[in-house]
Amino acid sequence: MASSDLTHEVWNIDDGRFPADAPLPDRARFLLRYAILAPSSHNSQPWEFHVDGGRIEVHAAEDRWLDAADHDMRELYVSLGCAVENLCVAAERFDVDFDVAYHDDTPPVVVTLQPDSEPSSDRPPELFDAITERVTNHHLFRDAPLGDAVRDELRNCVLGDDVTLVMVDEPERKASIAELQAEADRLQMDDSEYRRELGYWIGIGALGDSWLKARIGQAVVSHLDIGDSEAKKNSKLIQSAPAVGLLVTDSDDPSARIRAGQVFERAALAAERNGVAVHPMSQILERPEMRTELTSLLDGHDGSPQHLFRLGYPRAEQDHTPRWPLETFLVERP
Ligand SMILES: Cc1cc2nc3c(=O)[nH]c(=O)nc-3n(C[C@H](O)[C@H](O)[C@H](O)COP(=O)(O)O)c2cc1C
Repeated sequence: MASSDLTHEVWNIDDGRFPADAPLPDRARFLLRYAILAPSSHNSQPWEFHVDGGRIEVHAAEDRWLDAADHDMRELYVSLGCAVENLCVAAERFDVDFDVAYHDDTPPVVVTLQPDSEPSSDRPPELFDAITERVTNHHLFRDAPLGDAVRDELRNCVLGDDVTLVMVDEPERKASIAELQAEADRLQMDDSEYRRELGYWIGIGALGDSWLKARIGQAVVSHLDIGDSEAKKNSKLIQSAPAVGLLVTDSDDPSARIRAGQVFERAALAAERNGVAVHPMSQILERPEMRTELTSLLDGHDGSPQHLFRLGYPRAEQDHTPRWPLETFLVERP
């Protein structure tokens, strides 16, 4: 995949052009334009879609797996879940019914469009508009608590009972998470493979900077000792957030991670509609020993932590990051 193909054009979708009467694969391809706007770790976009009629197989693209940061593929499957959720939200918006099936082997998820059955509507319709507006916000957040209505909306994003959203807002527990984050940053930045991998994604411009800024960013991450400054910065970011969210699942397999990704994306879209910014922070969960330590802070919420993110009202706006065009991810069956 050429870095020069990364584009911001993908964010401009005219929803009036949904081909409602076209053959199913055309409808599937239109819906997938929303799927690829999903967040993914380092913006690696680790998905591939095999379209056969109305059947959309969602595959993990292992050539874009972050094997240094994400040893156990947790982030890869959470990212797939985010893309699946955008697909579902878009299908509901265009009144196309669908079924989602999870598998232990490959493909891990299959979404089947079912145009002849009555469309379901599990998701609030306003989530759809947020797909093209959502961004990850890396700035400090304002010192303002999340309102009760927003919290309720976020909690309502958990549709099944195998994923739990834990919200942490007590200053002491947030401080403990910020401490863990600082330690995890130092450990990760001490790992040359982690730095090389992060540098690669910054260098190709996946995280959104101009070519020159991206190359300088790559050099800084790859060669300078920035563990301490990252630790301080990220710990401050957590302290500035009125709440930290953590998604915990009963099991720790790919489908649980995909479902956690779906809940996260739904929450990120709901947050966006309420002016609340969301920022995943993965370094703690990337270190197995610290993932276990984080569990001890959860006050009786048993299970496997899958995704950690801060929530709050941002002090500054953030631009969209680019994506590869949809065609890059499509494998068509005749
Ligand atoms: C599973 C997952 C893990 C992520 N981890 C981090 C992280 O540790 N730090 C960070 O700044 N952003 C993290 N992100 C956000 C991505 O960097 C972001 O989604 C990507 O760059 C695309 O940008 P966008 O979300 O603004 O579209 C993560 C996103 C996902 C889905």
